[in-house]
Amino acid sequence: MPKQTLESPQDLLHFQLRTAMTMENDSLAALQELAGAVKSAEIRKLFKHHQDETKEQIANLQEAFRLLEFKESTAPSPSTKGISKQAASLLERSAPKLRDQVALASALGNEHYEISAYEGLIIPVAAMGATDVEQLLRANLEQEQHTSEELRKTLQTLVG
Ligand SMILES: [Fe+2]
Repeated sequence: MPKQTLESPQDLLHFQLRTAMTMENDSLAALQELAGAVKSAEIRKLFKHHQDETKEQIANLQEAFRLLEFKESTAPSPSTKGISKQAASLLERSAPKLRDQVALASALGNEHYEISAYEGLIIPVAAMGATDVEQLLRANLEQEQHTSEELRKTLQTLVG
């Protein structure tokens, strides 16, 4: 068991924000990988659009660090690394005609993980009354939810 270092809700929030920063950096890289793997120009556009949004999300997280007077840094995010690893492995196994479907399903997994991460952050941040930070995190959450919906609809259309 590693030494316990998170003593207060503030310590926990700081650590979770550091993890979220890694999550978004991983998301940026994953979207790049997936955009390179798909055949459909429409799906590639969707990934590229969310890459642009992800850069805004990273800026929102940086602003959250600043508002909370936390030192900005990153912490390990094995979950997002795992999602990317699984996507790469499935793409490798899949025939070219299946890759659009695989990429959409993998991106959906990433978005759902991000949604859960933001929900886990927003609830305590709202409880502590940090309205400005809550708004930044909610903006990120809404983009993830919107992207998730777009991915779901695109997948539905793809498979008929
Ligand atoms: Fe994101």
